[in-house]
Amino acid sequence: MSKITAAITAVGAYVPEDILTNKMLEEMVDTNDEWITTRTGIKERHILKDPNKGTSYLAIQAAKDILRKTNLDPKEIDLVIMATATPDMPVASTGVHVATQIGATNAFSYDLQAACSSFLYGMSTAAAYIEAGRYKKVLLIGADKMSSIIDYTDRTTCIIFGDGAGAVLMEPNTEGLGLQDEILKSDSIGRESLKIEAGGSLMPPTEETVARKLHFVQQDGKTVFKFAVSNMAGVSEQIMKRNDLSNEDVNWLVAHQANKRIIDATANRMGLNDEDKVLMNIQRYGNTTSATLPLLLSDYEKNFKKGDNLIFASFGGGFTWGAAYLKWAYNS
Ligand code: UT7
Repeated sequence: MSKITAAITAVGAYVPEDILTNKMLEEMVDTNDEWITTRTGIKERHILKDPNKGTSYLAIQAAKDILRKTNLDPKEIDLVIMATATPDMPVASTGVHVATQIGATNAFSYDLQAACSSFLYGMSTAAAYIEAGRYKKVLLIGADKMSSIIDYTDRTTCIIFGDGAGAVLMEPNTEGLGLQDEILKSDSIGRESLKIEAGGSLMPPTEETVARKLHFVQQDGKTVFKFAVSNMAGVSEQIMKRNDLSNEDVNWLVAHQANKRIIDATANRMGLNDEDKVLMNIQRYGNTTSATLPLLLSDYEKNFKKGDNLIFASFGGGFTWGAAYLKWAYNS
């Protein structure tokens, strides 16, 4: 019997309609389009303005996009993994609500939180279940309503993040396609550099935590940048070496969209001279945390050919980071 690998067999996405441009941010904080563009590569981001809608809304739309494209009966889905750093509520699980709302009534579901690496870690989890023969149809969704945890008076963070969702269906493959290898890492050296300090068990909410804005993202950008460049580029290079992949062999780099300069540094370290291989949509969405990787897959799906070699790379709060090598499984 041939070995079972876990392949991505469909992709879906959703971003909310409202757009927040660099020009609009100029009216809100002391910043300018030129600074944001040259330092980050971001021009605009999408924002879910409706205060009555949370991350589940974004995730449901992305999941429905897959159901529409594939005509899949949601009752066939075995498991829904909800990768997110901004669940609707701390308890109950957002994924459970998403699964029920899309009609995946035979599936079980849970949330997976690893900041900006949530989707990459989720891919590993989904693949492990499939490779073990335990489940056959796993829906992995990466979604974040980052605007719900951003202080729009803090110019060091509010220019970076946006809202969005992407989803992939993962299924068994016997042609050797799908996930080939991964290197996943974490280190709490980054615990203080990128965090939401209050609202958890260590510092439950009080009037004071609200007044001190401790429920918003705080980031020491310079430190995170330094670790992101060395660690994300490091594992990307390592996974190529370990799999005897030259820069010619790599068809696409699917890297977390946090800063164009970090993505460029990673591509350089991998020796990817052809910039067409480096997927980039940060200019339109900003950093959507758990959604960046599936949003790239959705935007570039038509360019991928069966058998193409994709390298995924991510870096996020925690710190959490990693790289994965995946062979694309279909022509669209
Ligand atoms: O996805 C999770 C992982 N996150 C990341 O990977 C983010 C990593 N970090 C970054 O992308 C970058 O560090 C930032 C985009 C956050 C900041 O860029 P930077 O080049 O590291 O800027 P900086 O923090 O060193 O600040 C340079 C200057 C400072 O002014 P002085 O001290 O030189 O006078 C800042 O106060 O730019 C100033 N500054 C701004 N100016 C205009 C900071 N934010 C802004 C702003 N507009 N929005």
